[in-house]
Amino acid sequence: MNKQRILIVGAEKGLGLGLSQAYLKKGWDVFATYLPDADIASLIALEKGYPGSLATGEIDVTDVCHIGPLIARLGAWQFDIIFLVAGIYGPLHQSVLQASDAEFQQIMMTNAFGPARLARHLLPFLKPAGTLVFMSSHRGSIASNTEPGIGLELYRASKVALNMLARCIYMDLMQGEHTVLSIHPGWVATAMGTLDGAVEAEIDVNTSVNGMVEVIELHRNDRKHLFLDYENNTWPW
Ligand SMILES: NC(=O)c1ccc[n+]([C@@H]2O[C@H](COP(=O)([O-])OP(=O)(O)OC[C@H]3O[C@@H](n4cnc5c(N)ncnc54)[C@H](OP(=O)(O)O)[C@@H]3O)[C@@H](O)[C@H]2O)c1
Repeated sequence: MNKQRILIVGAEKGLGLGLSQAYLKKGWDVFATYLPDADIASLIALEKGYPGSLATGEIDVTDVCHIGPLIARLGAWQFDIIFLVAGIYGPLHQSVLQASDAEFQQIMMTNAFGPARLARHLLPFLKPAGTLVFMSSHRGSIASNTEPGIGLELYRASKVALNMLARCIYMDLMQGEHTVLSIHPGWVATAMGTLDGAVEAEIDVNTSVNGMVEVIELHRNDRKHLFLDYENNTWPW
């Protein structure tokens, strides 16, 4: 039987790295991408444990010039799952009043426009019944933004936009067999989740990743666009 294949965008650390490891452990082939000039020591170490099963390529999701070379590198790969993980927290102030144009552009480019544009370019590499997964956040739920004083305006706006762009892709694919998932990974102890060690998160990477892998497995043939978390709870849009 052919091995199943996943493409993970943003895999040099945090959740992307954890997902790469989890799928390799399940016996899948993994194509993992990283930012040009990133420290990829962890990916190289992972490859040593699963020789021949991990391929890598470069992409900065904000740079349209990187898409062509990545596509050339993918060649004839066909994926069961394409998972857009890459994202940033943005400026610590998270405030529309304080944000410069460049700060807002950067978070929207990195968290919404970049992943959605790349996903559309990667669709020819997704199998006919394949699943496209976007790393969303519960902060991208408009209906759940009911607690005063949390703020997070910039990050929230970027993930709301990502959710809508994912829905637009789903609507374009709807006549086929594809599934699109927008996933909240939980509050996870990564560089982003801890603000580089300044705060404590709720769960570790393994808990989040194992949960997401199970949730994706449960829903990958649903042919719907769903907003789920790592514990299989459905979030309101
Ligand atoms: N951790 C949480 O609690 C949490 C909660 C909800 C949602 N999320 C989402 O989960 C995803 C992964 O975050 P994480 O917690 O694993 O954070 P992380 O450890 O900071 O990892 C973020 C990853 O995205 C990559 N990246 C950043 N900008 C990029 C770009 N322009 N192009 C390509 N890759 C880029 C980073 O590369 P470099 O390391 O080389 O910069 C890194 O590999 C993000 O989309 C985040 O919004 C996280």
